[in-house]
Amino acid sequence: MAHITAIYGSPRRQGNTTRLLKQAVAGARDGGATVHEIVLRDLKISPCLEIYGCTRDGNCVIQDDFQLVREKLLASQGIMLASPIFFYTVSAHTKIFMDRCQSMWVKKYWIDGLSFGQWVPTRKGLFISAGATHGKKLFDGALLTIRYFFDVIDTSLWKALLYRGLDFEKDVLDKPAYLQEAYQAGQAMARALTDEHDEKDLPGDTTFRAKKG
Ligand SMILES: Cc1cc2nc3c(=O)[nH]c(=O)nc-3n(C[C@H](O)[C@H](O)[C@H](O)COP(=O)(O)O)c2cc1C
Repeated sequence: MAHITAIYGSPRRQGNTTRLLKQAVAGARDGGATVHEIVLRDLKISPCLEIYGCTRDGNCVIQDDFQLVREKLLASQGIMLASPIFFYTVSAHTKIFMDRCQSMWVKKYWIDGLSFGQWVPTRKGLFISAGATHGKKLFDGALLTIRYFFDVIDTSLWKALLYRGLDFEKDVLDKPAYLQEAYQAGQAMARALTDEHDEKDLPGDTTFRAKKG
C-alpha cells in the first residue's frame, strides 16, 4: 500500500489551500493510499539555526516536532504539500519546515557525496497553492523553492495545482472545479504510487507483466 504524507502549510485552518489539500487527501484515500496528515501550524518547529550539527550524521540536532515530520516523510512514497502564496513564495510555516530539511541536504550532498542532479526520484510530490492576484509570475518564486525542496527529499514534482484569484477563506468553495481537480489529483497519485509499487513487486518475467496489463 502506498503511503502519503500530506502537509498543510497555511496558518488558516479552513482556508483555500487547506480545503484543496483535504480534497486531495480524500481522493488519495479513495484511491487506496494511507495518508498521514500534518498541520504545520499545530507543531512546534524552530527555524533552522544554521549551527550545522547535522554535519555529524545528517540528523538535525534540534529536538522538536520536525523530527516526527522527517520520520513520516522518509516513510512515504508520496508527498502532498499545500501552501498559500505569501509575498510571492510559500508561507512562513512552510518555509521554516523546509529550512529544517537542510539537514537532509547535508546528508545527501556532503555526507553521502552525491553530485548535484545525479539522484533518482523515489517519491512523487504534489504541490497545491493559491494566491489572491492574477499575475503571470504569481507562482514562479514558490515553484523554484518547491523544486529545490523536493530535490532534497528525493521527490519529483509530479503535479502542481496553482490557483489564482483566491483570497478570502472560503473563496475556493465557489470553485467546485478546483476542488474536484484536487480530489482527482489525489486519487491519481494514489493509483500511480500503487502501480509503481506493484511493478516493483513483479518478477522480471515479461509474460507475467503482460498478463497484469
Ligand atoms: C502575509 C500574506 C502575504 C500575501 N502575499 C500575497 C502575494 O504575494 N500575492 C498574492 O496574490 N496573494 C498574497 N496573499 C493572499 C493569499 O495568498 C490568499 O489569501 C490565499 O488564498 C490564502 O490561502 P489560504 O487560505 O490557504 O491561507 C498574501 C496573504 C498574506 C496573509
